[in-house]
Amino acid sequence: FKTLDALQPKGRKVLLRADLNVPVRDGQITDLTRIERLAPTIRELADKGARVIVVSHFDRPKGQRVPAMSLEPIATALGTILGRPVRFAEDCIGPVAEQAVASLQDGDVLVLENTRFHAGEEKNDPELSKALAALADDYVNDAFSAAHRAHASTEGVARFLPSFAGRLMEAELNALNVALENPVRPVGAIVGGAKISTKLDLIGNLLDRVDVLIIGGAMANTFLAAKGVAVGKSLQEADMHDTARAIMAKAAGKGCEIILPVDAVTATEFRADPPTKTVPVDAVPADAMILDAGPETVRLLTEKIVGLKTLVWNGPLGAFELHPFDTATNLVAAEVARRTQAGQLTSVAGGGDTVSALRHAGVADEMTYTSTAGGAFLEWLEGKTLPGIQALSELSERILPL
Ligand code: 3PG
Repeated sequence: FKTLDALQPKGRKVLLRADLNVPVRDGQITDLTRIERLAPTIRELADKGARVIVVSHFDRPKGQRVPAMSLEPIATALGTILGRPVRFAEDCIGPVAEQAVASLQDGDVLVLENTRFHAGEEKNDPELSKALAALADDYVNDAFSAAHRAHASTEGVARFLPSFAGRLMEAELNALNVALENPVRPVGAIVGGAKISTKLDLIGNLLDRVDVLIIGGAMANTFLAAKGVAVGKSLQEADMHDTARAIMAKAAGKGCEIILPVDAVTATEFRADPPTKTVPVDAVPADAMILDAGPETVRLLTEKIVGLKTLVWNGPLGAFELHPFDTATNLVAAEVARRTQAGQLTSVAGGGDTVSALRHAGVADEMTYTSTAGGAFLEWLEGKTLPGIQALSELSERILPL
């Protein structure tokens, strides 16, 4: 696909698909990362004289105009981060959007209202794609984190306009390429989280690609139980034992080393700072649950990480939201950050809770690359083709008339 290097945007109307789907609590944006990481693409386009028309979804209004899901406050935050005026139009298509676009001068930035206020967005309705495309001369997709959705503004619109990847999209794809497609070996992955059942495709794909697979979080309990270890009252999936055994057998056949916890921090209550007991994994009290990996496991993981040149990280090692069950994640994250900063490791993290866990550990900015994506990162790790990326590389070669 083409990047911004191939676009001469001066005087052109550029439809920029961003992902402004930022976390908001009580009307306040709680994490500006996605907006900050998008800003360079907008600045570059505006500084080169484009008329930048930003489109995005926000939340899940399901085709209804839900005022609490308006992009207007997020457009204001974007203006603050850019340090330049950002206009807002109360619809992403139709006369309101058309008039707002018509009044743009070179270098201006306009944000259009939530694309998901129109039912056609999620249905990938060609009428909506065409109406969006009709606003602009070119399409830039900078929303890697929404590229797993085949929606009108992420996929359909690329059929009707010359299409380009924005700088954030480029960075995300480069990082994933370095980590998984062409990694410097040995390459390892840390996969944590609650359930194997939601990560089967991901684990299956990683077994084909990595030399070492570190399993953490409650998911590790299922693997331990499948090996016959009594895990007490720990969260685990009893119906996934056969699957876990099949994964371990497949890994052995492929020469991929699976690392499971060797000790655990346990408690009988799931709350912050309860009384805890640290035990080898085969000595978990019957009335207790595993809530974090123990110090021996941290030592083992640190040793394994020292032997790696590349690491992909998805999912925390314990119940990191509750102290002290953030300890193993914090310590391993600090080691990954240290080796990355020393130039000894290429580390790429993303998906689900991973970035909040690394931010909690204070090292989210010390990885080689921290993805802005949740579901899209996971689907990439599963080896799936993301429709938004495919559209950029294939559809834009044959542009349809509006
Ligand atoms: C995300 O936050 O992962 C993307 O913006 C996609 O959002 P969605 O899961 O509502 O499609």
